[in-house]
This record gives sequence, C-alpha cells and structure tokens, in this order.
Amino acid sequence: MGWTPLGGEEADGPDLTMGSFRHSTTDAGLFRVIRDGIEGTSMRGLRRAKDQEIWQLVTYLRTLSGAVDPASLPGSMEAGRAVFERLDCGRCHMVRGQGGRLGPDLSRVGERRDPDELAEDVTTPDAAVSPRWWTVRITRADGTVVEGLRMGEDTFNLRIMDGEERLRSFARARIRSVERIEKSTMPAEVLTDVERDDLVAYLASLRGSDS
Ligand code: HEC
Repeated sequence: MGWTPLGGEEADGPDLTMGSFRHSTTDAGLFRVIRDGIEGTSMRGLRRAKDQEIWQLVTYLRTLSGAVDPASLPGSMEAGRAVFERLDCGRCHMVRGQGGRLGPDLSRVGERRDPDELAEDVTTPDAAVSPRWWTVRITRADGTVVEGLRMGEDTFNLRIMDGEERLRSFARARIRSVERIEKSTMPAEVLTDVERDDLVAYLASLRGSDS
C-alpha cells in the first residue's frame, strides 16, 4: 500500500486511507471534525457545507479506509466469538496463529471484507470462491477417489492438501481423471439473524492492529 495523500503531493493532512482518524473514531466525531475543523491545525472546517454533504463525506471517508467501527454494528463481538467457537470455525480458519489451514486465515479479515461481505461469507459460502480454494477430486487409476485443496502441480505430479491437512502427492501416470469443484468446502451454517450479526461483529473486529 503505502502513503497515499488524498490531495496530491502537497497534502500534509493525515492519510485518510489508513482508517485511523486521529481526531475521531466515531461517525459523529468525524462529522464535527469536517464541519468545525481542528483548532491549531491547517484543517479548517466546512461550515458552509450542508449537513447532508458532510454526512456524504463521512461515508466516503469510511469507504476509503474500509474501516467500519465494529462497535457500531448491531451484533456483539463477544457473542460472535462464542458462536465462532461453538461452530468450530477454527477447524478450517486460523485466527492469530490458532486454527486450521483448510480456509483463509481470518486474523485480519475485518480489514479485507466489509460487514455486508462478511455476512455473505458466512451465510452463502459458495457465492464467490477464489480459485485458491477450489477443491480437486482425483480419481486414481485403481478407481479410488481423493479430494482436497490444490496445492501445486507439475508435469509429473499433482499435490493436494486433504481434509486432515495432510499434503499428498499423486503421480499423473496413475491418475485417471481430475475434476475441479468450484465450490467452497465451507459448510453453509443455518444461523439465526442474531448469530449472523454477532459473527459479523466479531469478524469485523479482527484487524492487524489489536493484540
Ligand atoms: C470445512 C472448512 C471450513 C469451515 C468449518 C469454515 N470455513 Fe470459512 N471458509 C472456508 C474456505 C475454504 C473458504 C474460502 C472459500 C470461500 O470463500 O468460501 C472460507 C471463507 C470464509 C470467509 C471469507 C474469508 C476471506 O478472506 O474472504 C469467512 C469470513 C469465513 N470463511 C468465516 C467462517 C466462519 C465464521 C465459520 C464458522 C461458522 C467458517 N468460516 C467455517 C472453509 C471453512
């Protein structure tokens, strides 16, 4: 990433894309900063702007940083963490060094995905699965079938990680066919609205900065 001043080379304001607005973390606070400015700094307020325009700016700044304050979401982070543990999401997902490798590491998923995307991730896992997480189903010459995540291949071998996280290599010469499954291995959980909101709040809180 790097430093991307909004106003071009000469900007001396804070980097608005980083999600850490030093003078304000809430939307209401950001609104005040934009309207009134910050005393003793070059940040002057937009007192003549209409409230609606200022709110539009606040929304825009939030989308730049991808930073939605998890505390402002309807769900509870703590309850979400409990749901995460109860449904054993960690079987496939790593969070801060703990968990499995059959799905993406979620340690910083709150920076990558906004709350709507997170809700979609947990309710409809098959919606948009990147090729990295497609499964291959290998039928061997002897008719036996194995499935796993595709880890790599070359002229002679195809390597996968199976459901027990074992790396396995198969000689092409002994493979009858390979099928690609462009679906998620993630189970679609039946969640209540409250559980979904709680999970989203927990996932949104997973960011690099905190402990
Ligand atoms: C069987 C393994 C498995 C389990 C169990 C599982 N997931 Fe996943 N998850 C995956 C895989 C594989 C992907 C990547 C493909 C996709 O997007 O569906 C994924 C994707 C995700 C993503 C999107 C991550 C990103 O970086 O885009 C989120 C969020 C997520 N899972 C949350 C959960 C939660 C919450 C649970 C528990 C309710 C859970 N997962 C249970 C395998 C699993």
